[in-house]
Amino acid sequence: MKRNITIEYEEFNDIQMLSNEDQKLVLAARQTLLYSYSPYSNFRVGAVVLLDDGTIIQGANQENVSYPSGLCAERVALFTACCDAKQRKVAKLVIAAEKNEQYVEVCPCGSCLQVMIDTEKRYKKELEVIIPLPQGRFAKIKGMKNFLPFAFKSF
Ligand code: THU
Repeated sequence: MKRNITIEYEEFNDIQMLSNEDQKLVLAARQTLLYSYSPYSNFRVGAVVLLDDGTIIQGANQENVSYPSGLCAERVALFTACCDAKQRKVAKLVIAAEKNEQYVEVCPCGSCLQVMIDTEKRYKKELEVIIPLPQGRFAKIKGMKNFLPFAFKSF
């Protein structure tokens, strides 16, 4: 039997089409690229987490000469946010990437998607994720069911 899964996301042609709050978060994610340590890939990734009281928490990819010991920007930001969140909930994650001094598109890796799924479970709140697409466009994905419908779930 053939089955279909439909996922939904919003697409924005340029940064100005985003809400004021989301534009601010994209700019904050771009500023966070400064803290990327990526001498091995030369691919800088910055991520910001928005908590539900408006607090912004930063993360950037941190590489290591022993490659698997590094960590993606999304997980640096999410784990930092979880340590600091206290009663607040993780609401949004916004990502930026840079290669050869140009902003480029990026999609979170599968491991980061699994961490995002646990973040929703932990805070009992849908996570909104904004990622940069090619040609200066953006995608906003509301809820991880729209990002990784075939996630690993524990038994
Ligand atoms: N990277 C991230 O930080 N986030 C992503 O969404 C994709 C990949 C990092 C890992 C590594 O430091 C570099 O980008 C190249 O893969």
